[in-house]
Order: sequence, then C-alpha cells, then structure tokens
Amino acid sequence: MQNAPSNTIPRLLALSDLHVAFPENRQIIADLRPDSAADWLLLAGDVGELTADIEWVLRTLRERFCRVIWVPGNHELWTHSKDPVQLRGEERYQYLVRLCRSMGIVTPEDPYPVWEGPQGPVTIVPLFLLYDYSFLPDGALNKDQGLALAYESGIVCSDEVMLQPDPYPSREAWCWARIEATERRLMELDPGRPVVFVNHYPLIREPTRVLRYPQFAQWCGTTRTADWHVRFNAAAVVYGHLHIPRVTWHDGVKFIEASIGYPREWREWQLRGHQIGVPRQILPLSELAGSSR
Ligand SMILES: [Fe+2]
Ligand SMILES: [Fe+2]
Repeated sequence: MQNAPSNTIPRLLALSDLHVAFPENRQIIADLRPDSAADWLLLAGDVGELTADIEWVLRTLRERFCRVIWVPGNHELWTHSKDPVQLRGEERYQYLVRLCRSMGIVTPEDPYPVWEGPQGPVTIVPLFLLYDYSFLPDGALNKDQGLALAYESGIVCSDEVMLQPDPYPSREAWCWARIEATERRLMELDPGRPVVFVNHYPLIREPTRVLRYPQFAQWCGTTRTADWHVRFNAAAVVYGHLHIPRVTWHDGVKFIEASIGYPREWREWQLRGHQIGVPRQILPLSELAGSSR
C-alpha cells in the first residue's frame, strides 16, 4: 500500500477501459490513488492490449488498493502482432488469469469475494461472457445479416481479425460455453445476498441504444443475460466497452458504465464537466451515502 490514508470509509470502486497504450491514459493510472487503505477496485476490462501493458496496470493498482478484481475486455484477448505473447483465445485468457493470480488479483475463475464494508455483505461476481452477435441491428434477422450490414457500413469491430476464439469454432460458441458454466456457479449462490456483477459488456441491450453506430451493438453482449440482474439479485452492474460513462437504472438495478475511454473521447466528456480518471463509487451506493460520484 502506498500513501493511502485509512481514516475514510472503505469504498468499492470501479474503472473500465483504461487503454493505457495511450500515454495520457497511462499517466491517469500512474496518478491514481485510493482514498482509503481499505478501498477495493473493480476493473471491467480493456486495460490494454499488450501483456507488458496489462501487467503494468495490474501490478501498479494491486500495490495501491486493498483488493483488485479484474475481468477481461476484448482488447486483452486480442492476439496482437506486437505482443511477444502470441497465445490465442482460451490459452491467452488462461495466461492472463495466471498473471492475475500471481499478484493476488481476483479473476472470473476464482471464488467470488464478499464485500464486508459499508452496505455489505455483497458478493462480487466478476464475469467473462463475451458476446454472441444477438444484439442485432435493425433490419437483420440473424448474425450473418447483421454482420453484412456492418461490413456494408464500414463499422466492424477489430475483434473480427484480432480476437481468436480457439479452441472454440467461433466467438459466439465461446460465449455460450462461458454463459453455461457461469450460470451453474450463480445458481449455487445464496439468493438472499445481493451481488455486484462486473462484466466488460452490459448484461442487457438497453445501454447500447445510444451508440453512435448502432450496428456496433453486435459486439456488445448477448440477449441470454437479459434477466440476470433480476434473477440473481444484483445490487449493481458494472460494465464498460461502450466508452459512454454514465449511470442508468433498469428494473430498479443501478448499471454503471465505468469507462475512461480513448483520449479523444474523454476530452469531450471533460469539456462537458466530467471528472476523468476518477473511479466510480459502487458501494456504498452513492444515493444512500449522499455522494455525487
Ligand atoms: Fe474499450
Ligand atoms: Fe471493449
């Protein structure tokens, strides 16, 4: 722990889409410090692309926060030509899980930790679910038609060439395997204890409705998790990927998009009065705590 005062209330905090390949974003992380020695940090993916960058982020934040919980974004899962680690798909994911474990960082493969701080106990559930192209654009009846519309418009996610699904035949097959395995674990949880979900993608489609390019929603989640926030008693859902930082409420559950995003994006948010690089407070729920964060 570095220079962290311990006289403030412990908080459960969240950040996403750190994208530290950009020097400005790297500086934001270099400057980031918790308010309390007991603060936890949820990282909702896209910390970077290259393993050296990912390791730097995780190590830096692990040294500062009491507990760090990470889920992969699509960018961590890319097999990037400039990365000395050329593992693909599941093997790359497992490599990153081992890296996290070597630092004491919690991953979707570990027992779910329980937040015992203010408004606890709450089970923290890091998710790795990917997407399955089921958030179809208007006019498309299936994945092939949806992708055809995306290619026609020139708005195609780089995952199509960078994110390999090996050993699964497709990204959607990987997604479905993840959903089935995760659902089994969730059904074993105590239904009386609330959970905080952490996932790179929103669990529901609604947050994607404000995308500048609606056809991009195909790479943003799956309809199969549409009721998870209700079914599994979520107190909050943390996600990123959209680079549209905001809070929305669905069925009485708070959804927090915790992205920093690319510099050209966060500079626009900054002009509109947003604080950049400040983790979002998940617990205590700011509405109850009277905080505006
Ligand atoms: Fe991102
Ligand atoms: Fe992403």
